[in-house]
Amino acid sequence: PSPLLISASLLSADFLHLADQIAACENAGVDWLHIDVLDGHFAPNISMGPFIVEHCRRQSSLPLDVHLMIEKPERYIQAFAAAGADRLSVHIEGNPNIHRTLQEIRSLNVSPGIVINPGTPVSAITAVLPHVDMVLVMSVNPGFSGQSFLPEVLDKVREIRQIALQSQMDLHIQIDGGITAQTLPAAYHAGVTVAVAATAIFKHPQGIAAGVAALRNSIA
Ligand code: DX5
Ligand code: ZN
Repeated sequence: PSPLLISASLLSADFLHLADQIAACENAGVDWLHIDVLDGHFAPNISMGPFIVEHCRRQSSLPLDVHLMIEKPERYIQAFAAAGADRLSVHIEGNPNIHRTLQEIRSLNVSPGIVINPGTPVSAITAVLPHVDMVLVMSVNPGFSGQSFLPEVLDKVREIRQIALQSQMDLHIQIDGGITAQTLPAAYHAGVTVAVAATAIFKHPQGIAAGVAALRNSIA
């Protein structure tokens, strides 16, 4: 079985203690930090921008996995790259010139990812797969942490894994939304290589290390 990477979503972190929370993630063996950027237009909720990414960059050497849920993401690619993002994932929905955006991300030496919402079929992104390093399959509708996992999206994970195998593409498949020790095993077996979790890590009653351990143990 391939190793699973865990990307901790700061959307549920305690921002008054962000440095400590990031240090706890590092000590717990988290692989990436997931930064959810919401503009209140693409999806409800307003969260964080390049300013926070820059602070995370100074605090941590973990890869910064930035998920853009904003309208016209091309306006902010450079700012996030300059702030220290290692990966930038953009949604296919509402982005008619997605190739250009993905190429721009690549040209800035940042790893490009494409994201599909629960209601979007895999056929919407097959043409761009050669231009990305990762596909993010949303398992909730974007906006908030703490929502329930939509299991039907796992069919899309299996479909993407098949395409990647057949075309010998080296693709990460990331899942985001409602990931817990209960929902992670099915996602992992469907072919997910990177799991995002906010609530399961930052709101675990026994703390961050216990949250990460519970996720890892669920697929051990
Ligand atoms: C949703 C965000 C997710 C969210 C996940 O808009 O993209 O990354 O923070 O939160 P949980 O893990 O609590 O579902
Ligand atoms: Zn996210």
